[in-house]
Amino acid sequence: MSASPPSPLEIEPKVAVGWVPLAPISELRAAMPIPVPVTLAGRPWALVELDGEVSALHDVCPHRRVPLSAGKVAPGPGGRQVLECGYHGWSYRRDGACARIPALGEDVVPRGMGSVAVLSTVVAGGLVWGCPDEVPGTAPELGATDVFLREQIIDAAAPEITAALGASEEAVGGVRTGSDEFGPLRFAVRPIAPRRCALFPLVTADELAAGMAEWVRRTGALPVTPIPSDPDHER
Ligand code: FES
Repeated sequence: MSASPPSPLEIEPKVAVGWVPLAPISELRAAMPIPVPVTLAGRPWALVELDGEVSALHDVCPHRRVPLSAGKVAPGPGGRQVLECGYHGWSYRRDGACARIPALGEDVVPRGMGSVAVLSTVVAGGLVWGCPDEVPGTAPELGATDVFLREQIIDAAAPEITAALGASEEAVGGVRTGSDEFGPLRFAVRPIAPRRCALFPLVTADELAAGMAEWVRRTGALPVTPIPSDPDHER
């Protein structure tokens, strides 16, 4: 078994994905100590905040393949928080290294056993962003007053949404810049399925007054699907 967590490329398609918004940081904190499950590039990830730092761990426990997102954040060895699998308690640090295997004894450090892959993550504009690329490109650069409005689920492919909002496929740090008759606009898109995406409108604090109503007007021609209240709905 490898002594270090596998590279994301060992489990991801060999195509550059770039930075993608995964979930609002507020959602992560509200869910604590339970992880938030997300998918990126067709792979499942468990989003957590451990000792104040966000991490996205591959959502498959190496022991018996159950989702780590069914586990919880717990105190770990050395006083550092870990993500603990809900089945037999194998526990993982923020870097994906296995920190504890209860069956081996509390004092045994399971070096080189059972590590999981992690995504590169950053928090910007109130969102957790992830990048599965082995060499992540420019991370999202958003100012302290940049915020996102409520995400919208759009039943269209990312290129269609991007074109409809007057932007190019070129995204700098995951942020696309477009414009329409009302002026410039910024947004990020996360593909969920071949013809379904989550659209994250990004605004500055000054633009907040126009808020979501303005975005709904601007995206009026897009096939928006109401976000269901069912917590199991696919992210
Ligand atoms: S399946 Fe995760 S610890 Fe056994």
